[in-house]
Amino acid sequence: MTQAPVNVTVTGAAGQIGYALLFRIASGQLLGQNTPVRLRLLEIPQAVKAAEGTALELEDGAFPLLAGTDIFDDAKQAFEGTNVALLVGARPRSKGMERGDLLEANGGIFKPQGEAINAGAAEDVKVLVVGNPANTNALIAQSHAPDVPADRFTAMTRLDHNRALAQLSKKLGAPVSEIKKLAIWGNHSATQYPSIFHAEVAGKNAAEAVNDQAWIADEFIPTVAKRGAAIIEARGASSAASAASAAIDHVHTWVNGTADGDWTSAGVVSDGSYGVPEGLISSFPVTAKNGKYEIVQGLEIDDFSRQRIDASVQELAEERDAVKKLGLV
Ligand code: NAD
Ligand code: LMR
Repeated sequence: MTQAPVNVTVTGAAGQIGYALLFRIASGQLLGQNTPVRLRLLEIPQAVKAAEGTALELEDGAFPLLAGTDIFDDAKQAFEGTNVALLVGARPRSKGMERGDLLEANGGIFKPQGEAINAGAAEDVKVLVVGNPANTNALIAQSHAPDVPADRFTAMTRLDHNRALAQLSKKLGAPVSEIKKLAIWGNHSATQYPSIFHAEVAGKNAAEAVNDQAWIADEFIPTVAKRGAAIIEARGASSAASAASAAIDHVHTWVNGTADGDWTSAGVVSDGSYGVPEGLISSFPVTAKNGKYEIVQGLEIDDFSRQRIDASVQELAEERDAVKKLGLV
């Protein structure tokens, strides 16, 4: 192993997703089997002890690629020299909390984290925001990191993408590996629009293969869009292992690229494509090449899709306006 370790910062490291994520990073699944990693864990002071426990377990894993684990309760220190930043820790919505309160509470987390990334992260830093509301938290962090190219800030909709793959695979009895070009549009929320109209299954158009518009509108879309709530209802806690898995997929694809003839979904800064206002962090179909996510261009958007994309983008614009009012962007 001659390569210098890549610094990976994980916030909310003592949480549920953190526990499922860290061991996969240490085992090489994030960046590949030739890339050593140094973990930098950020937690709030009350959770540092729990993070220390996880660090002991990481040591006990004797992972050949793990060069070390450091724990911080200070964002400036945690993001110093970081190459990959996974922003998982967020303030969950508690009883009686309004949407504005949630956005404000998260602003208190993602504003200083954006500033810390701006101040000290490595030149090549890549940021994935997982903590909800992921798109708007990413927007807050990005807007406080003016020296970092905006396209380094992304929000996770890969879990939604994977959920959509799984539902379509079940419906058609086709392996997930044969499904290409699914797309999640908009917000990581119940308004998101999972689309199969450009998707292919074993080379055939997926919507034609399904041949059941009612299933698409009344089953597929709501099942994917409300899956987060269904998991919370069933587990009594939000998805953790599947979210960690999707975070691994998101960064792995970002670094290694998408396969020819396929794409994936990610929340990226809009350049105005498909009528999504410039600057919003919205999910799009994206390809990855040379360490960059690019929005897939030139797709035809029918009326059914247009309405749904617009509704989710409208919600993103409202979230942006709310955090603007709070002085957070
Ligand atoms: P969790 O409550 O188990 O863990 C969150 C951790 O973040 C806690 O340990 C907490 O101490 C820490 N934290 C809080 N504020 C922090 C700060 N300022 N700095 C560092 N750490 C901080 O939650 P979880 O299940 O791990 O989920 C984390 C987030 O991910 C939630 O917001 C959840 O809604 C979100 N989520 C997103 C997706 C997605 O697809 N984008 C999927 C699942 C969950
Ligand atoms: C998910 O999609 O599973 C989560 O974002 C749900 C949540 O609200 O934490």
